[in-house]
Amino acid sequence: MMSDDPKATEAATSPPLPPSHQMWGGRFALGPAEALDALNRSLPVDHRLWPQDVAASKAWVHALGRVGVLSAEEEAQLLDGLDRVAERLADGAAAGAPDEDVHTLVERLLYEEVGAAAGKLHTGRSRNDQVATDLRLWTLDAVDQLDADLATLGRVLVEKAREGVDVLLPGYTHGQRAQPVRWAYVLLAHAWPLTRDRQRLADARRRVAELPLGSGALAGSGFPVDRVLLKEALGFRAVSSNALDVTGDRDFVAEVLFVLALVGTHLSRLSAELVAYASGEFGFVRLSDAFSTGSSLMPQKRNPDVFELTRAKSARLLGDLVAMLTTLKGLPAGYQKDLQEDKALLFEAVDTLGLVLPAATGALASLEIDRGRMAAALDASLRATDLADLLVEAGVPFRESHGLVGRLVREAERSGVPLDQVPPAVAAGIHPKLGIAVSQLGTWEDSVEGRATPGGSSRASVEEQLEELKRAFAPAGGV
Ligand code: ARG
Repeated sequence: MMSDDPKATEAATSPPLPPSHQMWGGRFALGPAEALDALNRSLPVDHRLWPQDVAASKAWVHALGRVGVLSAEEEAQLLDGLDRVAERLADGAAAGAPDEDVHTLVERLLYEEVGAAAGKLHTGRSRNDQVATDLRLWTLDAVDQLDADLATLGRVLVEKAREGVDVLLPGYTHGQRAQPVRWAYVLLAHAWPLTRDRQRLADARRRVAELPLGSGALAGSGFPVDRVLLKEALGFRAVSSNALDVTGDRDFVAEVLFVLALVGTHLSRLSAELVAYASGEFGFVRLSDAFSTGSSLMPQKRNPDVFELTRAKSARLLGDLVAMLTTLKGLPAGYQKDLQEDKALLFEAVDTLGLVLPAATGALASLEIDRGRMAAALDASLRATDLADLLVEAGVPFRESHGLVGRLVREAERSGVPLDQVPPAVAAGIHPKLGIAVSQLGTWEDSVEGRATPGGSSRASVEEQLEELKRAFAPAGGV
């Protein structure tokens, strides 16, 4: 109804923001303050959900058609209109758009395409079930892409490991040389965590794939839409069980963020190790030119920025997880606007790994090793356990043999000779069987092969691991 009062007309027709940019203007005389709009608008973040918003809207149009809310012509008109909206968005229509969020944007563009019929699209639907549906659809794609990226990295680790079966180096614990191992074995120790990450992603994916659409704002939809058909049409695994739960549920975001944070942690550990190995002190690995950076001051530098940044980016991933959980912990069931913050966190985490994984993978693929430096780091003290084990084989209880070899180590350090070159008479002086044990020490290869338990660094175990991981990381459809 038009008012005669010119002021009222002014207020009704000229709110600070055009009503077409909102979905909820009716009950307010004025539009939101600019400061609120700036805080509230999510389009700068959620515009990237437009393909999902259009897909879910098309499924919704079908569902409304089947319950008679839309005539066959209206259904066709809206479907066609949504396709044109998608074309415009693909051409960049979201850039600079004034709308509150992606849902408002899609609906406004649909009005532009089909006119008044667009007003029927939102029947029985709420942005609460809509955004949850869109974000789950987006997350499913993101999980699949990440899984593929992780598999690619896994394959590179396996390929590199294959070249490193015969390469021996010290294995470290506490940053101390501990026992000799194969380079392949070290790389595989960083590949196994990725298999667990992928299992976690697959497990989380099952719960992501539950359909919220048809839940309305919190209590279900006012129209008897077929949610099972919606689920099938949108490729979900199951229909959610409680509308109040699913509209406020962001467990799936938290779960995926956890997996991403753990992936980041794994990459960070690999990076920390490679940064150390690339140092002049270790000199075990050398980054290719394409994946090294230089210093602006020191011409000789070949910096491992790629692994330093990979290590640092894991901090962000942890931050995103903590921010999501902290946002959720204070909320009652159902949708609260706090939940709008989920997307910035998830997008940042997914984008971060989207940058990190290809770079880390490329750097690893082109990484060269220096076998000589690795071999040179194998000092005889790493044979101490072998000596203790030889004494055990000669009948000395391990606790005693540990002490005897410890005395030999002390003697070697005192006289400044390698452990395996302490004169036999000196070793025999500590224990007669120790002199014999020193003479029985074989090669470094013998030492590594001496630990032949499944999962150890022996050749057979490493070959077995290589086979298993090759299968685990095989591209879908082939080994
Ligand atoms: N932009 C909102 C979000 O991302 C969409 C849902 C808005 N729902 C609402 N009741 N205001 O969460």
